[in-house]
Amino acid sequence: MEASAAPIPVMPARPAEPLPTREFFKAVASNSLTACDEELFNELIVPRRYLWQRVFFVSDPEGIRRVFLDNVGNYPRYRHIRRLFQAGLGTGTLGTEGELWARHRRISAPSLDPRAIAPDVPAMIALAEDLVGQLDEVDGDGIVDVEAVIGIVLIALWNQVVTAGDPEAEPMLRGLSKYPRKPRFVDFTPLGQLIDPFRPANQRRQKVAAFDDLLFRLIDERISDDYPGPHDLVWRLIHLSDRKTGDHLSREEVRDEAASVIAGGVSPTIRALTWIWYLLALHPEAEARLHAELDTVLQGKPPTPVQLPLLPYTRRVIDETMRLYPPIPGIIREAAAEDTVCGYHIPPRSVMAIMPWVVHRHRKLWDDPDCFDPDRFTPERSTGRSRFAYVPFAAGPRICVGASFAMTQMLAVMAVLARRYRFRLVPEHPVRPVGRISLHPFGGLKMRVEPR
Ligand code: HEM
Repeated sequence: MEASAAPIPVMPARPAEPLPTREFFKAVASNSLTACDEELFNELIVPRRYLWQRVFFVSDPEGIRRVFLDNVGNYPRYRHIRRLFQAGLGTGTLGTEGELWARHRRISAPSLDPRAIAPDVPAMIALAEDLVGQLDEVDGDGIVDVEAVIGIVLIALWNQVVTAGDPEAEPMLRGLSKYPRKPRFVDFTPLGQLIDPFRPANQRRQKVAAFDDLLFRLIDERISDDYPGPHDLVWRLIHLSDRKTGDHLSREEVRDEAASVIAGGVSPTIRALTWIWYLLALHPEAEARLHAELDTVLQGKPPTPVQLPLLPYTRRVIDETMRLYPPIPGIIREAAAEDTVCGYHIPPRSVMAIMPWVVHRHRKLWDDPDCFDPDRFTPERSTGRSRFAYVPFAAGPRICVGASFAMTQMLAVMAVLARRYRFRLVPEHPVRPVGRISLHPFGGLKMRVEPR
């Protein structure tokens, strides 16, 4: 059985006991994965107190369902994280709640759904084929930073979807994808709220505002009824109307929503696509099955859009990668009013920590939880598993709005890359997972590229 014979993919050491408050905060600030102690992977609900703050680590699928779906109105995003996003992204969905959020969501969701993205898929595949071909030029020892390679490809794909390939837009996509760059721990505390009016919030606004000229140029071109270009994402955010009210987003709101979608979506997709090559290199058997599937379906040619859904093993590799290395390792909510979750009394203002990093490796939810085994996502082996035991995109009304777009990108880039190349681990570049807002390999992922 591959699951028990294969090496365990790298993960940070887990504290045997809960860390004292000071050490816990230090661990969260440097690498949130190292703050997750053994108890969290054994117990489905773990209540804790850090200084004045009640925190509930919720891994019970029924508890996750309560927070994400059944009583979702009681669990807005944790105010300090919301503030961090709102500072730069204004009215964009990443930083808002209530009717303002709902209004933006009713417009951003159809702008990103599979029907809206479909016309761009052929161009996305062609761009990926073109860029990936440059790997033939790598000389010397053949070592590349896989994360950087994926970043270059994905920024080009995003530019196609967001602006129909405007030649000036890539630096904006790269810049916004890093927002909010390196938040400091204080940003997640009440102290951050006190100092915000004087410092970081303004700086954050400026970071996004640096791209205002370009964003407003793109918006103004597309506002005109006789705009001749394709109906890209910026166009759709302007022209789609709210199905409930018939209203449109204002010019400023389109700017905020476009920035929010880019800030929310680029980085986790790069992360997910990066970890795949590490896991495949560690599991040659899985890599061989993936190659066999691609060779059979693609017949040695670049993929076509209709072939992407015909790659079930490729899809399982993606799902299993996001289980082991969830691109967003922690999703934090806050109780507005008291509630009961899986029999636990939740006082108002409690923090509800739903950590995909923990949920996806929980001993009560998964067999061999730290092993790579894509077949755990076959329909047969998925039967009976709660939908709330696997939440890389969250769930409920605030589920990631770009989930299906992300999946299309991942399938396309995987098919293009794995059809032609494989990546090998190099011992002198150890891999170290680090959890901040997203989960990335510290210092990139240096691997040797080989043509297949
Ligand atoms: C593998 C890739 C991705 C992963 C794992 C991912 C994960 C997530 C998660 C966990 C959330 C919920 C966060 C929370 O509630 O605190 C979220 C929200 C969001 N994501 Fe993604 N995401 C991905 C790709 C994308 C893409 C491609 C886009 C845009 C095209 C996107 C845009 C957003 C936005 C705008 C939100 C906020 C939605 C709302 O509050 O209504 N994401 N994502």
